[in-house]
Amino acid sequence: MSEGATKKEEKPRKFQAIRGTRDLLPPETALWNRVEQTTHEVFASYGFGEIRPPIFEPTELFVRAVGGETDIVSKEMFILAEQHEDRDVLALSHLRDALTLMAVSADHKPSVDFFLEKSAEFCDGYQAALKKGVVYADERGGIKIEYVKEARQHLVDTIAQDRFEGWRDRFDETVRLCIQYMGLITLEQGNALRPEATASVCRAYIEHNMQQLPQPVKLYYMGPMFRRERPQKGRYRQFHQIGAEILGGPDAPAIGAELIEMLMTFFAKLELEGTTLDINSIGHAADNCRRGYVAKLKAELEKVKDKLGADSQRRIETNPLRVLDSKLEHEQAIIATLPKIADYICDDCKTHYAAVKRELDLRGVKYQENWRLVRGLDYYMRTTFEITARGLGSQNAVCGGGRYDGLVELLGGPPTKGIGFAIGEDRLILSLQEAGKGAAPQSRDVYIAWMGQNAYATAIRAAKTLRAAGFSVELPPTELKFGKALERASKLGSRFALILGDNEVTSGEWTLKNLANAEQQKLNEQALLEYLRKA
Ligand code: HAM
Repeated sequence: MSEGATKKEEKPRKFQAIRGTRDLLPPETALWNRVEQTTHEVFASYGFGEIRPPIFEPTELFVRAVGGETDIVSKEMFILAEQHEDRDVLALSHLRDALTLMAVSADHKPSVDFFLEKSAEFCDGYQAALKKGVVYADERGGIKIEYVKEARQHLVDTIAQDRFEGWRDRFDETVRLCIQYMGLITLEQGNALRPEATASVCRAYIEHNMQQLPQPVKLYYMGPMFRRERPQKGRYRQFHQIGAEILGGPDAPAIGAELIEMLMTFFAKLELEGTTLDINSIGHAADNCRRGYVAKLKAELEKVKDKLGADSQRRIETNPLRVLDSKLEHEQAIIATLPKIADYICDDCKTHYAAVKRELDLRGVKYQENWRLVRGLDYYMRTTFEITARGLGSQNAVCGGGRYDGLVELLGGPPTKGIGFAIGEDRLILSLQEAGKGAAPQSRDVYIAWMGQNAYATAIRAAKTLRAAGFSVELPPTELKFGKALERASKLGSRFALILGDNEVTSGEWTLKNLANAEQQKLNEQALLEYLRKA
């Protein structure tokens, strides 16, 4: 059989967008553009400048900023496994590959001496790379290198003491174990697709010495973010955020209040109706403030542990505040009886919170206090807020944000105040569409119905002139009977058809048909432009 014949019989694979990702198509993209254009206008009017950070960053940036225990980082990150650029780490990775291959091969089992030498080389090399800061002890690496060392040491001890007869039989088994542990250590370049952009903006603030600019620095961004969540309406694995961050300067309550005012102005300009703003203060990380509250909360949760679901039970240990986030029906009554954070935060945080509310009142921003609003990222302190919108079902948070004063310092920069938010653009668009504010199908101003080669040259020229004057024009690439052409023009939602045949070309008087009322008129080129400008 010829190659061609085989190819024909093979069914080509049907490609589809990956689960949780999607194509944004016209006419919907027009609405996305409107939202983004409004962002540029409104945010600039509050003095924000646009930043476009990269879409992938070192994994460790997100681990440190967002928190290793959060769902976003521990479960949902898309890690990019790339060869490491550092030569020593790459050599370690090759060494590991070679040992792995030898361990599974029947013919080239490593000798005792060879294995002991190479596994020691691996452990030392990894330790050196850690010290150099080119790999970082993620939870897996940090623990497993100790396991490798232990397994190796066990082998050394056994051999040295010649403790029992059958040590040679045990050799293979221990080698396999050692290599298995080695395999769990991350030696790839630790990069990840960004699950959010606040960490990137703080990294950029430090990298570009923005603390030397007039403070605070106000930045905004828009673009795709990536989280491996279970896709559903309003929840995607590639989604889009529009965010703003204010870095540096004081932590004056007016700063946060103005930021929230900007958000509400933005939503109002887009005519997004039915939004609710929830605010809270989660204090700061000190024993006389949030830490004290968390201890109290944990103690109370322990008392009702049996009545809680598995997730909440786990969270009592990992992050008790997140229990307050629970949406489970049967947990609501229990949660309502738990101690409230507002009663435990320190006096400074209380004063700050009261001032934020006063500043919001001054600006006429309506809000409701929600003591259960704790947010799912570690960097927050004091003010947190969330906005919900209509028509979104269970995924109704359209925006979340808050203050994060320690974050820049945590990432190696100077002590810096910070506050910001991110809007879920996909959800914002969904809510606008549900409210009937979606984009209409794209229409054309003018469809050029031409017949004959003479008319074609004129049609090309007319299309150019009209487009240059700002009109959207459809020029059919092949000749169509006038009836057919007018039918197409209507299907495309064109407002006018410009009819060009031999008569029009010779007389210079072109026929313009209004497709809404079928009225026709003759106009020369100049008059046509003037007429369309007013139409
Ligand atoms: P976040 O609450 O994780 O905060 O996300 C902000 C918004 O992004 C959410 O309210 C939601 O509208 C949208 N969003 C999150 N995950 C998804 C998803 N899988 N599919 C669709 N939309 C989603 C942050 O990301 C913080 N960086 C916000 C911030 C900026 N805080 C201070 N500055």
